[in-house]
Amino acid sequence: MASEKPLAAVTCTAPVNIAVIKYWGKRDEELVLPINSSLSVTLHQDQLKTTTTAVISKDFTEDRIWLNGREEDVGQPRLQACLREIRCLARKRRNSRDGDPLPSSLSCKVHVASVNNFPTAAGLASSAAGYACLAYTLARVYGVESDLSEVARRGSGSACRSLYGGFVEWQMGEQADGKDSIARQVAPESHWPELRVLILVSAEKKLTGSTVGMRASVETSPLLRFRAESVVPARMAEMARCIRERDFPSFAQLTMKDSNQFHATCLDTFPPISYLNAISWRIIHLVHRFNAHHGDTKVAYTFDAGPNAVIFTLDDTVAEFVAAVWHGFPPGSNGDTFLKGLQVRPAPLSAELQAALAMEPTPGGVKYIIVTQVGPGPQILDDPCAHLLGPDGLPKPAA
Ligand code: DP6
Repeated sequence: MASEKPLAAVTCTAPVNIAVIKYWGKRDEELVLPINSSLSVTLHQDQLKTTTTAVISKDFTEDRIWLNGREEDVGQPRLQACLREIRCLARKRRNSRDGDPLPSSLSCKVHVASVNNFPTAAGLASSAAGYACLAYTLARVYGVESDLSEVARRGSGSACRSLYGGFVEWQMGEQADGKDSIARQVAPESHWPELRVLILVSAEKKLTGSTVGMRASVETSPLLRFRAESVVPARMAEMARCIRERDFPSFAQLTMKDSNQFHATCLDTFPPISYLNAISWRIIHLVHRFNAHHGDTKVAYTFDAGPNAVIFTLDDTVAEFVAAVWHGFPPGSNGDTFLKGLQVRPAPLSAELQAALAMEPTPGGVKYIIVTQVGPGPQILDDPCAHLLGPDGLPKPAA
């Protein structure tokens, strides 16, 4: 039990991000350096976020971490890599300055508690928000002000993109030490206010984790190598243009093509990896039929290493698309909790669109939809009540 006041306690939040140009494959597993650059959209923290508290105190005898209320093994290599990196940056900063604002902080152990406001089992990219939040919170508690891409990346590659709001690219870099493999904002969250993101949760856990999956793909898929070398560079430039010019049809088409190519590399992996299930494919067909009916690309899907679809569309299309999903996957008794997040004004499904969808309904195929939008990067919470750890450095009962 701590007897002295903690040296510092900081609580921050960080967002989930969804890649529209996918990261899949490392050229250096230890440093988490990717074989291609990637680009993502940061989702709003009102709907999806991780909250993390870090406390340092002279009284702590070891580093400890609690995730969603349960104590976890702090010895995990990725966690250790993040802690090592942040302390290394803090040491560098101290050595380069006259006075250290936290003189003895570096010799102190840290206690960390982290919670998500969304179910981990939903297969959403919780590790990206989690490690971005860890990096950001540790940086505040240790007084580090430098770029945190490396710290977050060492936890999970995609986490470095959650360090910024809006539209974010992770430049693969060229250096062997990874110093130029950094995340950077392409456009702020205010840039494209009409953009909406819908997460269609079919609530299954993924079978093959990203780290293991991408290792197998790097070792066996010639398509992945072709993608990284010959496809992604031009796509990165084109995606940045689509975002800059708010060109939704081109943004949507490229998003779908890149998701499809990522899943094609999974199938090209030997033995093959398959993340999409029957519901994923029904959603893919629904999106293409919806777009064909309108004679315009109004909706896009993308899938990460799991079966849940993430949909991009504009605010004027959300209600009609939700009506189409409702028709394709009727919710049954949970109708009143089917839609979460931003309000959607109810809209009827026209007979013409219903006919164009040509779908036999699959009741319960989609468990619920989270409606959200583009959001800001990590935030510091000033209110001490927000701390997940008490003055004794242990989780507060509610955490
Ligand atoms: C399919 O960042 O989870 O979501 O670096 O091994 O932790 P590690 O992998 P991770 O991979 C994410 C892969 C993806 C695509 C993406 O987010 O770019």
